[in-house]
Amino acid sequence: MTHCRNLESSIHYQLLEKIAEGGMGEVYRARQLGVDNFSKLVAIKIIREEYSSIPEFRANFVGEARVVADLIHTNIVQTYHLGIFDNQYFMVMEYVDGFTLDEFIYQHQFLGRQIPVEIAAFIISRICRGLDYAHNKSNSNGKPLGIVHRDINPRNIMICREGNIKLSDFGIAKAFDLMYNEEGEVIPGMDEYISPEAANREITDPRSDLFSCGVVLLEMVLGYNFFEGDTPEESRENILKKPYVDFRSIRDDLDEDLYTIIRALLQRERKWRFQSAKDLLMELEKYLYRDRFGPTNEKLSDYMIELFINGSAFPRESEQRGSFGIPITSHDNLKEMIS
Ligand SMILES: Nc1ncnc2c1ncn2[C@@H]1O[C@H](COP(=O)(O)OP(=O)(O)OP(=O)(O)O)[C@@H](O)[C@H]1O
Ligand SMILES: [Mg+2]
Repeated sequence: MTHCRNLESSIHYQLLEKIAEGGMGEVYRARQLGVDNFSKLVAIKIIREEYSSIPEFRANFVGEARVVADLIHTNIVQTYHLGIFDNQYFMVMEYVDGFTLDEFIYQHQFLGRQIPVEIAAFIISRICRGLDYAHNKSNSNGKPLGIVHRDINPRNIMICREGNIKLSDFGIAKAFDLMYNEEGEVIPGMDEYISPEAANREITDPRSDLFSCGVVLLEMVLGYNFFEGDTPEESRENILKKPYVDFRSIRDDLDEDLYTIIRALLQRERKWRFQSAKDLLMELEKYLYRDRFGPTNEKLSDYMIELFINGSAFPRESEQRGSFGIPITSHDNLKEMIS
C-alpha cells in the first residue's frame, strides 16, 4: 500500500476589489499568491458573519461544499478551496471574466432589444450540459451523489467573454434548505424561478432544475419573467397556478420547435416534463443545429462584444468588473434607469 504524503503550505489571498454583494455575502476579485511571484486570479465569496456564526449553517455549508468540490466541468464554476479567516468562511472559486445572465438580460432591456431566440436556446443548452454532468455525478465508490442545483436563476448563470456559459452556486441552496426546512421558513431558490414541487416543499429531484431552466429560457424569449409577482408569495402562486398562454403571441419569431420545448419544460407535473438534462440537451441541439449551422461559443462571444461595447455600453459608474475592460453600472442603477 502506498503512503499518503502531506504537503503543507499556507495559501495567501489578496483581495483586489469587491465585485458584488449577494444574499450570502460579498464576492471579491482576488489573487492567489504562490512562490516567486506566482499569482492566479480567483473569485472569493466571503460568507456573511451572521451565517458563519450559526453552527447548523456551518455544518450544512461545509458538508455541501465537500459534495460539490469535485464538480469539474466547463459549464460549472469550479470551487477551489474552502477556508476560514477571522471566523468567517470564504469560498475560493474560478474567476469568471464576463457578465451574469441577469446583466445580459438587462442590457437588452436597456437597449430596447430582444435576445435572439437561438442565443437563448444556446445558453440553456450549455447549462444543460453542466446539469447533466452534476446530476449524474457519483463518488469514488460509484455511489450517485444525488446533486440537484435548486437555485437556477439568471444571477447564478455567467457568460464568459469567450462565450462560455457557467452555472455557479452549486450546493448553496441545499445548505440553506437543510438549515431552514424544519421550521419551514425558507424555500431555497428565488421564488419566481423555483419548480412547483419546490414551491410545494416537496422533495426535489433533477427535474426540478429543468423546470427552472424553462423559466429562465422563457424569460430570455419574452424579455421578462412570466411568473414574477409583486411579492415572493405571489410569485410562488404564479409558479403553481398561473395559466399559460400561447407565448408565440408575445414573441412572434418564437418557432414551433422551441415553443414545444418550452412547454415541455414548464409542465407543472414533473412526469410530463423532460426527464433528464441529457434529453433536454438533445432536443435543444436538434433545434439549434437543424440547418447544420447554429450558435457556438465564438458566435456568442462576438455577439457579447457587439452588445456591450458597440451597442453603447452601460452608463459608467460604480464597480469596475474587468469584463471587456469596460466598467459597468450596478444592477440597482440599471434597474432604476430602465424603469
Ligand atoms: N466566480 C465568479 N467570478 C466572477 N464573478 C462572480 C463569481 N461569482 C459571483 N460573481 C459575481 O458576484 C455576484 C454576486 O454573487 P452571489 O452568488 O454572491 O449572489 P447572487 O447570485 O447575486 O445572489 P445569491 O446570494 O442569491 O446567490 C454575481 O452576480 C456575479 O456578478
Ligand atoms: Mg449566486
